[in-house]
Amino acid sequence: MLRHYTENGCRNQIYSRWRNGGLSSAPFAWRNGRNILKATKESIFAVVAPGLEAVCADELAGLGIVGGKAVAGGVEFEGALDELYRSNLWLRTASRLVVRLGALKARDFPDLFGKAKRLAWGKFVRPDTALEVRATSHRSRLLHSGRIAETVAAAADRALGRGETLQNGPRQRVLVRLEDDICQISIDSSGERLHRRGYRQSVTRAPLRETLAAGLLLRLGWKGDGPLVDPMCGSGTLLIEGALLARRLPPGGRRSFAFMDWPGYRPGLWRAITEEAQRRALPSGPLLVGADQDSDAVAVARDNAERAAVLNDLVLHRQEFSLLAAPAATGLLLCNPPYGGRLAAGEDLRPFFRQFGDVCRRSFAGWQVAFLAPAEQLARATGLPLTPVVSLSNGGIPVVLYRSEPPA
Ligand SMILES: C[S@@+](CC[C@H](N)C(=O)[O-])C[C@H]1O[C@@H](n2cnc3c(N)ncnc32)[C@H](O)[C@@H]1O
Repeated sequence: MLRHYTENGCRNQIYSRWRNGGLSSAPFAWRNGRNILKATKESIFAVVAPGLEAVCADELAGLGIVGGKAVAGGVEFEGALDELYRSNLWLRTASRLVVRLGALKARDFPDLFGKAKRLAWGKFVRPDTALEVRATSHRSRLLHSGRIAETVAAAADRALGRGETLQNGPRQRVLVRLEDDICQISIDSSGERLHRRGYRQSVTRAPLRETLAAGLLLRLGWKGDGPLVDPMCGSGTLLIEGALLARRLPPGGRRSFAFMDWPGYRPGLWRAITEEAQRRALPSGPLLVGADQDSDAVAVARDNAERAAVLNDLVLHRQEFSLLAAPAATGLLLCNPPYGGRLAAGEDLRPFFRQFGDVCRRSFAGWQVAFLAPAEQLARATGLPLTPVVSLSNGGIPVVLYRSEPPA
């Protein structure tokens, strides 16, 4: 329905709603100052790594998108096209955003084909766009995920009026999930997963995923209101995400999204949203300091920060963390130290964590300290008065974010 909007009318409407800090009711479309249509609200699901769902729900609320419900693995919400665009642009913790196309009961393949064919495929898929259907099935009569995917693809092809499944050209990802014979069919609006901001083209070993790095900062309540130090910064992810957050820069401002290939894509609406984002960005942020003992890591962090256009916000240097001095009286020291598994297989890392705790007590006495650790005994080895904040997964390794407050 949004395709009937005038660009300017739509833009004014979005601006005023966003500026006023919230969306009170279903949005309206305006043409020449008149309300002409109620925008369609889609049922949207933000896919989020376990442990960060509540953080993502808070992010949505901060965008003025009300009613988001955090559930295991994501956040459900209702939103019009402009809200879907803004969520893709702004959400720092979501992995992708999908639009629920429909849920249908199916216990045999002809039934699945017949019901899937009736869904509104033409709203999201151009006749010349190929489909990439991914299916899973649990506790259902239809179990063969390959055949489920083929059936849904064939139903979509029929609905789109094309005789054969397209193999080449742009692809639209479709997610199919069968549970207890109910088939949920969703259209991906993001394309590449949202942690791919576009700035990180070089990495060091064991980098943090960008969505996780942003999630740690948000979960700790850090919004750029004080200095941030990462004494083992690797490819710089925590600091770059910190700079984007502190300067109110959208994480998705340098990439494209799957919704840009949809038939109803509104380039004018997208332009309005990104121009507004540019106007809201702060020209500078707090002190952000990164160090690493490895000079290659520092070079990688610098390259990444430059691509993210935040290099001027960061102070990066090669430094063994035990020699690091606090650059201010207070702030947040946050890091992802090397730990068992990918980085230090077989090593006893307790002495390393003990030393880390000593340095924090000695040189960062007035600071809040937070770090990821895969085992409580490593965290305890620091000797810091720690509180476990949230359990997460980092590259498949279960980890806990620990926090220690400075003495009052
Ligand atoms: C898990 S990686 C950090 C990854 C980083 N968060 C990222 O997103 O790329 C740990 C980093 O700690 C650094 N490191 C290990 N021991 C160190 C020490 N004693 N002093 C400074 N850096 C150290 C390593 O060089 C490595 O880059």
